[in-house]
Amino acid sequence: MTDYETILIETRGRVGWITLNRPDALNALNSQVMRDVVAAAGAFDADPAIGAIVVTGSERAFAAGADIKEMEGKSGREMLMDDHFGAWGRFAAVRTPVIAAVSGYALGGGCELAMMCDIILAADSARFGQPEITLGVIPGMGGTQRLVRAVGPYVAADLVLTGRLLSADEAARAGLVSRVIPAADLLAEAEKVAEAIAAKSLVALFAAKAALDAAVETTLAEGLRFERQAFAGLFDTDDQKEGMAAFREKRPPEFTHR
Ligand code: CAA
Repeated sequence: MTDYETILIETRGRVGWITLNRPDALNALNSQVMRDVVAAAGAFDADPAIGAIVVTGSERAFAAGADIKEMEGKSGREMLMDDHFGAWGRFAAVRTPVIAAVSGYALGGGCELAMMCDIILAADSARFGQPEITLGVIPGMGGTQRLVRAVGPYVAADLVLTGRLLSADEAARAGLVSRVIPAADLLAEAEKVAEAIAAKSLVALFAAKAALDAAVETTLAEGLRFERQAFAGLFDTDDQKEGMAAFREKRPPEFTHR
């Protein structure tokens, strides 16, 4: 298995785990973290034995943002020419469902990384925010775009313009977080959710994720067309036959992910 410098990876059943591991920097996302996470997620995504991915951090921090110390001395030309955060696009494009299990700080790039995932589960200790404005910059890993889509323009503007943080409960009320969990139970709950997803047909999961993405990326008419095509396409899979036969025969389905 590949060695990574800044993350720990583990496979449990059909679930791939990525744990950010820069404790001294509150998991700040430097270029090496980006390379490691993108590579690990890509490897899980290419493996049909993996049906869900969990990304998590430490109790204290999911990630406290992009690495300020790495960026501080750069020029605008360097940020552009290096496409400093560009590779994160490959993480966002992973086809396998990804769950962010967030404890502690999810700030700046940390909040943006969580928003690249499909589901955000939060410990009651979690704090979300886009504090870049206090550094004299703005979110640069998708925050202004994904936050508006996640919580609407007014809550997003409140966070992006003031830099204030949301508690886990506030984030849940705003629609960013789907479940708030006592901190001690976060990983167990993430495992349960990930296992429940990974037990489903991987072909159907890919289609579901792509259709959900289409909803935020396209018009309603295009999204509906995409959904209709994807829905029909699934009727050529073994898993559709198995899922519906299992329903008729009143037994659990045994998906082969084909
Ligand atoms: N980059 C680099 N290092 C960071 C970091 C970051 N984003 N966040 C924390 N660290 C480092 C600190 O510098 C400190 O290291 P040293 O011990 O070597 O000084 C270590 O992590 C622990 O942090 P603190 O001592 O500050 O811990 P705290 O409990 O007092 O405060 C905190 C925690 C409120 C999260 C505070 O660390 C903080 O405000 N961090 C920065 C948050 C931020 O501004 N994030 C946005 C970054 S820019 C960005 O993300 C751009 C984008 O859109 C992609």
